[in-house]
Amino acid sequence: MSTFPVTRSEIAGVSLRDIARRFGTPTYVYDAAVIEQKIADLKAFDVVRFAQKACSNIAILDLVRRNGVLVDAVSAGEIHRALAAGYKPHGEPGAPHPIVYTADIFDREALAMVLKHDIHVNCGSPDMLHQYGSVKPGANVTLRINPGFGHGHSQKTNTGGEQSKHGIWHEQLDDCLRIADRHGLSVTGLHLHIGSGTDLEHLSQVCGAMEKLAVQVGRTLTTISAGGGLPTIYKAGDTYVDIAKYHTMWNDSRKRLEAQFGHKLTLELEPGRYLVAESGYLVAEIRAIKQMGKNTFYLLDAGFNNLARPILYGSHHPMSIVPGPLDEKTDPSGAERELAEIVVGGPLCESGDIFTQAEGGFVTSRKLPVAQVGELLVLECAGAYGFAMGSNYNSKPLAAEVLLKNGKPHLIRARQTPEDLTRGEVIPTL
Ligand code: LLP
Repeated sequence: MSTFPVTRSEIAGVSLRDIARRFGTPTYVYDAAVIEQKIADLKAFDVVRFAQKACSNIAILDLVRRNGVLVDAVSAGEIHRALAAGYKPHGEPGAPHPIVYTADIFDREALAMVLKHDIHVNCGSPDMLHQYGSVKPGANVTLRINPGFGHGHSQKTNTGGEQSKHGIWHEQLDDCLRIADRHGLSVTGLHLHIGSGTDLEHLSQVCGAMEKLAVQVGRTLTTISAGGGLPTIYKAGDTYVDIAKYHTMWNDSRKRLEAQFGHKLTLELEPGRYLVAESGYLVAEIRAIKQMGKNTFYLLDAGFNNLARPILYGSHHPMSIVPGPLDEKTDPSGAERELAEIVVGGPLCESGDIFTQAEGGFVTSRKLPVAQVGELLVLECAGAYGFAMGSNYNSKPLAAEVLLKNGKPHLIRARQTPEDLTRGEVIPTL
């Protein structure tokens, strides 16, 4: 159980009003110490491989790399980011691959990139395996299997079962082993990821599926990956997975497989959300407060262009108010604020631009402190799939990103400029 404060003035000892004055709003702020703690939580696993799609700023990748975390990439762009953050394209023979490309297709850019840098590939479709085998015969590959079941915090994040496009269907594993043979590919890795934001009950079914599939692949295997999906806490009542229990479950499966194969297996975990969600805050300014019938709206300068999870999944993010208008240098009085039911929305020309909504687009409200225009509102637990899913909708610039480390704020991405918005656009001579 966890409760979230409804007012806050700082993060990791750094004043939020100072951050907003210096870097503007909306700005994403990440607390490095939280990410480091989350990495430490998972140290029992041989390899922690960060699913960078959750938060792919190269400063974050550099931070996790310095803490011994390897990286997953799902596109040529993510491979580029991993290399820019200092990851080597491939490790020493026998050592875990620093970067793994995991996808269900190769677009042409990604295929060119993995070949150019000799990046290890995790194939999620028979076609991908064919395409890779025909240009890189003799390589080692990982297969991502859809075990026939899945689970996620939303139907949109469930990656297993017949409704999902992800992975190689479990009944086609033998066919894929034959495709691999035909190209001289050696299947050294097996990977299962059943969904994002799932729970221990569902995750525990994955070990059994992995054991059966691994036996089917046989002794070429050197690595098994449990995928990602570890949940994080967004509201009171949410729970973490017991990491020690989860590791024991996987370790037991791994040991049974090692006994059968007669050699060691590396056990990988591939978390995204778990490592970064709680480190991240989206800091926005309240720019208007309006009354619509019985509803009070706080309208922010951040919208679903900055944080899409509420409009996409009805996701709940904790919110807090930073007391004291930004323009006033004086410190706010310490008086307790009254709470009121508030609807929180953004600046976009679309009625779905509401942060307090349930799945299906139903507007809800939240008990928040009575606030004034010019005060800051912080959307919390926003480090995973926050900035990373941002867009330029309504020609809004992408937000700035700031990393807090050792009590100091570091700008890790400048806010986009109007020129950035039109870069690459051309008016043809007609
Ligand atoms: N591995 C694979 C192959 C994945 O597809 C994903 C997430 C992960 C690992 C990391 O999952 P995590 O540990 O973060 O749950 N935008 C959604 C989440 C989409 C997840 C996509 N794949 C959200 O905001 O909840």
